[in-house]
Amino acid sequence: MGRPIAMFDSGFGGLTVARAVIDLLPGVDLVYFGDTARYPYGPRTAEEVRHFALQISDWLVTEFDPKVLVVACNTATAVALEDLRVRYPLPVMGVLEPGLESLLAVTTSGRVGVIGTVGTIASGAYQQAAEAIAPDVELTCAACPGFVEFVERGDTDSEQVHVLAQRLLTPIIEAEVDALLLGCTHYPFLARTIANVLGPEVVLVSSADETAFSLLRELDPVATAEPSGRRGTYTFVSTGDVDTFAHLGRQLLGPELGTVVAHCWGDS
Ligand code: DGL
Repeated sequence: MGRPIAMFDSGFGGLTVARAVIDLLPGVDLVYFGDTARYPYGPRTAEEVRHFALQISDWLVTEFDPKVLVVACNTATAVALEDLRVRYPLPVMGVLEPGLESLLAVTTSGRVGVIGTVGTIASGAYQQAAEAIAPDVELTCAACPGFVEFVERGDTDSEQVHVLAQRLLTPIIEAEVDALLLGCTHYPFLARTIANVLGPEVVLVSSADETAFSLLRELDPVATAEPSGRRGTYTFVSTGDVDTFAHLGRQLLGPELGTVVAHCWGDS
């Protein structure tokens, strides 16, 4: 295995980013870390999530010497990305900037929305980044507590999730945005419900896909070209139950998710 791309998320959601990376960069090696024992991060304090992000990243950098570290979690990106960038002498990518840049590229009205976990929206990270990149854009943010739990239960289009979406997306509807960023790893699975609530004129942008495209641009295209069709190797690590991770993870990511390695911190 060469120097891999290392990525982490609070649990399964970041597998949407991993899937997009595998599709775009099939020749590169990938290590995915899902902190399922401490999931979800969304309702936790910023200090807690920052501590987890540093702990996981220290371990990934020490164990795997990655060429890029990807924070495949919006909540962790929102509170820890800058600390991680200062800490390691390697490129550290989050899901916030790629998603936001794509959102700003597709809007024609200049009115855009971002939805995410309570932790992500409360951090103010999207609001600050948008203000810095595009101060003239009118950004409406909405936290969507409950969305992640519906997705984890495999419920993405029931009457209940539709009613919840209708309520939580009210500020987005009232702001008359023409583009909405799904600023949480799980929300792409709710795209159909969200689209039904918002109507076809609102463009939905997935931070998972945009992060993979950014990674493609970041990495040297020569170094990432597939030598004679070589496929990358994929390593999956979970702090929670590895059988559950393998089972659910395979449904989300696909057949590339093989054996899952257990990891225990010892202090949590
Ligand atoms: N991965 C988290 C995010 O993208 C969602 C799940 C959680 O709350 O841990 O914000």
